[in-house]
Amino acid sequence: MKTILTQLVSLAVLLISTGANSQHRTGAYNETHRPQIHFSPEAHWMNDPNGMVFYNNTYHLFYQYYPDSTVWGPMHWAHATTKDLVHWQHQPVALYPDSLGYIFSGSAVVDLNNTSGFGRNGKIPLVAIFTHHEPKGEKAGKNDYQNQSIAYSLDNGTTWTKYADNPVLKNPGIKDFRDPKVSWYEPTKKWIMTLATLDRITFYSSPNLKDWAKESEFGKDFGGHGGVWECPDLFPLEYKGKQVWVLLVSINPGGPNGGSATQYFTGQFDGKTFTPFQTDTRWIDYGPDNYAGVTWSNTGKRKIFLGWMSNWQYANVVPTEKWRSAMTVPRDLAVEQVGGKYMLRSTPVPELEKLAGKPFTFTNVDAGNYHLTAKTGKLNGPARLRFSAAKMADFSVVLSNDAGEKIVVGYEKKANEYYFDRTSAGKTNFEKDFAKRLIAPRITTQANLDVTLIIDDASVELFADNGLSVMTGIFFPNTPFTNIHIQSPTRFNLKSVKFQPLKSIWR
Ligand code: FRU
Repeated sequence: MKTILTQLVSLAVLLISTGANSQHRTGAYNETHRPQIHFSPEAHWMNDPNGMVFYNNTYHLFYQYYPDSTVWGPMHWAHATTKDLVHWQHQPVALYPDSLGYIFSGSAVVDLNNTSGFGRNGKIPLVAIFTHHEPKGEKAGKNDYQNQSIAYSLDNGTTWTKYADNPVLKNPGIKDFRDPKVSWYEPTKKWIMTLATLDRITFYSSPNLKDWAKESEFGKDFGGHGGVWECPDLFPLEYKGKQVWVLLVSINPGGPNGGSATQYFTGQFDGKTFTPFQTDTRWIDYGPDNYAGVTWSNTGKRKIFLGWMSNWQYANVVPTEKWRSAMTVPRDLAVEQVGGKYMLRSTPVPELEKLAGKPFTFTNVDAGNYHLTAKTGKLNGPARLRFSAAKMADFSVVLSNDAGEKIVVGYEKKANEYYFDRTSAGKTNFEKDFAKRLIAPRITTQANLDVTLIIDDASVELFADNGLSVMTGIFFPNTPFTNIHIQSPTRFNLKSVKFQPLKSIWR
């Protein structure tokens, strides 16, 4: 009797734990430095977001992934989905390396009119357009080892079939020839491929995603050229009824704070040629940790951006054990005119509101030395901090632990710059340039201050001036930061300070 009882109990325990496992397929997500409100893979290496497409009420995220290690290696496209841009479900790996090479970055589209002919029985194909990177050719010193290929899915992106006649766009002899971002251009009824080709962007067009013709080049004499051009994106945004085209181009190295960063151009696009409005160099995010970001396709006028929250300078050596790197929070992009120029704004998607816990609101705060967490209780996980003032003055927000480690996010009026200082952020010696004070120009003509900080276990994202001034940075304290102080050398009055803990997306 006793043995039967014991067996029943263990069976029940087994059933319960299996049930629990299937509910928590994402794993514990409890490790030191594990982001709680940002997407990160359960294990192993991740870099660029890829193939971002919205279809059937689901946002798909594919990403550069190496399933065998926590450092970069033969690239796969891993897959995750989200219905709300906040909570993620892991899906099976979508694309594996093959005889044509590793699967490098690229995009995905909904081929609504079945231009590719991949659709069957009325099923609309999702088509992925990616770079095949052939490592043997690279080792042999050839210069045509990156080619563009396609694959399709008829089951909502779960399984993919590679096209038998890959590659669809052959390398003309340019070593860096990669990261196709494809979109539909309605006036000419053609697909446009925006491709990074060493030190410029080359535009191609196609009626069917299989046959590509070169249209034009842009950028050899524009923008930043401190490194190779990668991971472009091209899309229109509306500003007061006018269409402004935005071209994103990631470069590595050569970012404003060293290493990798993403620049943008505003201009016009006529289906063939991109004509810029600007001659200056601008960055979508001046922080060190937002790279290779692009937008979801098939979202109508709304353009939602996601970036890889790391930097090639140290991505392979950051002190996380089980996995490496996370994505930024998804951000809505918009264009705004500042001093006669079209500038790009990024703001965290409103869907994040779902995670917001009980708010603490304070008004008329003297920012001299304001110990915020003495009032709200210690920081215990992710949080959002917002504050505003009628005018600008020097200030800093200090996140610290009791061991004296800290990061500082602030503003210096004399230089009219925001900064992010991680010189005393705990673990920094994995790379000589990590422990730095990083700066971002203030981009606005408005007098007042508005700041939002999205704080997670290992990152902070600053959105100031309605999303015109943006900075993202990662850090690795030995114990979590639990204290927040707002400080200012002047008598600085903050009109309001709002602090909200954010719930983990993994629990
Ligand atoms: C950008 C990048 C891409 C390339 C991929 C390889 O971070 O270098 O240009 O396709 O990563 O993983």
